[in-house]
Amino acid sequence: MSGEQRQDLPSEAELAEMNRDELVRLGAKLDGVEIVHYEDRWPVKGTRAERRAARQITLWFALSALAGLAFLGVFLFWPWRYVAPGTEGYWPYALYNPLIGLTLGLAVLFLGIGAVNYTKKFIPEELSVQERHDGGSSELDKQTLLAQLADAGVRSGIGRRSLIRRTAGLGAGIFGLATLAVPLGGMIRNPWKDSTTKDSLWHSSWLPENGEKVYLRRHTGDAHEVVLIRPEDMDAGGFETVFPFRESERDDPEKLAAALKRSDAPVMLIRLRPNQQVVKRAGQEDFNYGDFYAYSKVCTHLGCPTSLYEQQTGRLLCPCHQSQFDVFHYAKPLFGPATRALPQLPITVDEDGYFVARGDFIEAVGPAFWERKS
Ligand code: FES
Repeated sequence: MSGEQRQDLPSEAELAEMNRDELVRLGAKLDGVEIVHYEDRWPVKGTRAERRAARQITLWFALSALAGLAFLGVFLFWPWRYVAPGTEGYWPYALYNPLIGLTLGLAVLFLGIGAVNYTKKFIPEELSVQERHDGGSSELDKQTLLAQLADAGVRSGIGRRSLIRRTAGLGAGIFGLATLAVPLGGMIRNPWKDSTTKDSLWHSSWLPENGEKVYLRRHTGDAHEVVLIRPEDMDAGGFETVFPFRESERDDPEKLAAALKRSDAPVMLIRLRPNQQVVKRAGQEDFNYGDFYAYSKVCTHLGCPTSLYEQQTGRLLCPCHQSQFDVFHYAKPLFGPATRALPQLPITVDEDGYFVARGDFIEAVGPAFWERKS
């Protein structure tokens, strides 16, 4: 507001006498705004056309609420565990992600359509021209602006359209709940429950159970083919991604395929060049087998696959945010946002000459886990 305009300010007594309409116009005038056109969308209240418009908007908000509820239902109850193609239950599993996206997208879309429609059909039609000015707002400006907002609220009739108000609140509320479900959903499972099996949060799929060997398995592209690895299968300087395999799973196509899908399963088996100088991590001096080292492939920053290996420098690069890990130095981070070394899998070779895991990882795989010690 300019100094010139301030000369026409009403006194406090005059201000106190003004009604809402006068404050609205005064506020506009003092702000250099000329209201060219300002009138209710529905000068005659309660017409059939007005009621029809209100019903349409109510419908959009109600649809948003329904879509939000559907999202919550799918997120909480739809079968999400991996099922191999061609086996029973595959289609419900395959539809999980599309349904999550569809229901959440529709909830946002319907909420937006309802809000836009309400603005177009019930907020007073206004055409104003405003000059720009510098500086902050005075008490006078704040009061007149509040009067303008209150006026728009009263004229829009939101106070007396309780059905629209409630459905809009319902749609927005359920949508808010749906967005909370994503971060909170992952925290509902009790990490201390069933903490001894490979399916618990405290272990990875490499955990040997009931004395059964866990082999290092090559992924050939055929989820049902089993190819195990021996030291002579890799050249010095070589690198390969491997997955866990148990003999008890050999004749179970679903388990064979699922073993390749678990997020904690991929491990990089690296064969260093002979006589390479290596710094081993304290307490993990015997985790390697000769020149062979096995590290989790899941980046400790945000979980991307750290699959770019430069054998000359021994660096592993995560392509997501460029974290680099030094394989010659127990895969500790050298650069980028990752702060933890890649967990190392203890390995050896069995009596038949195949690589096996000597145990599970001894620390959390990937980026996040509560109460983690390293
Ligand atoms: S996920 Fe690997 S650097 Fe971010």
